Amino acid sequence: MKDKIVALEREIIKETIKTSDEQEKFRIRYLGSKNIIKELFLEIKNVPNEEKKEVGMLLNNLKQIAKKKHDSFVPEARSKDKKQTLDKSRPAEEYKLGSRHPLSLIRSQIIEVFSRIGFVVSDGPEIEDDWHNFSALNFPPEHPARDMQDTFFIKNSNKDMSLRTHTSSVQVRVMENESPPIRTISPGRVYRNEAISPRAHCFFHQVEGLYIDENVSFADLKQTILYFAREMFGEKTKIRLRPSYFPFTEPSAEVDIYWGLKTESDYRITKGTGWLEILGCGMVDPNVLENSKIDSKKYSGYAFGMGIERIAMLKYGVKDLRLFFENDVRFLDQFTSGI
Ligand code: DAH
Repeated sequence: MKDKIVALEREIIKETIKTSDEQEKFRIRYLGSKNIIKELFLEIKNVPNEEKKEVGMLLNNLKQIAKKKHDSFVPEARSKDKKQTLDKSRPAEEYKLGSRHPLSLIRSQIIEVFSRIGFVVSDGPEIEDDWHNFSALNFPPEHPARDMQDTFFIKNSNKDMSLRTHTSSVQVRVMENESPPIRTISPGRVYRNEAISPRAHCFFHQVEGLYIDENVSFADLKQTILYFAREMFGEKTKIRLRPSYFPFTEPSAEVDIYWGLKTESDYRITKGTGWLEILGCGMVDPNVLENSKIDSKKYSGYAFGMGIERIAMLKYGVKDLRLFFENDVRFLDQFTSGI
């Protein structure tokens, strides 16, 4: 038996593999389903007991040698001397269609809902001056309300520049450049100097809304928000407005939607109340109108602002905000582009 193994080993070492055909022949003889080494394994039963272990080891070794030799030949992907023939009947390779990012889907949906009631899209720069991000919005210098948002300031600029902390800055730009009636929404990226966690990131996205005309009232605001909430979360959605504070609106409110208390997770995310906050809003403060040269005696208006990530998390049941920015295809693949 040992002689047979030694002879076979010599034979394997002598073999040459120079083409794919030779490699295939080698594979069939030494590694295929009815290979010659396997046959020797079957003969182990005839070997005296005390030699069985050694013979087993020699055969395993032989198998390894054969495998190594087989793998050492790597056929060239496209052999230069062999003519490539084009098989026109071969099925086409599947072309993988991408899907839209969940934040883009929600942004488009928000734009679509508001454009149906006459809002047009506007945008502004992400690097913003102090006037548009703060001062014009009624945050006087040193006002503690500036601390509500942790700002990334941009050094080495003679003007006070920063990354915008909210899209409310676009309100000011629109009011400066247009005259009422104004009906606009401004989607965009905003930045805050916050520790990254499942609920917070140093950048995220918002949509700002602004409506300025004669006789705009809080009732108009409420009705618009109710319309939006129902388009977004279903026609039976209930909303409530809680008094709040923003420097640029007076009165100000935060809007909750009724989420329900059916499951344990509902209890957790609504902190046992059944209600979830979706946006901030209010009547544009007359100071803000005047700062942008709009006559606050003649015109009034409302504004609102919401986080796109927050709406997307609620709609898609995403529990960790960071997933939106990691671009893991396994996550992104789950969103099919409806729009
Ligand atoms: N700018 C606010 C924020 O980033 C959101 C906001 C609240 C915008 C109330 C508004 C508003 O226009 O009226 O937290």
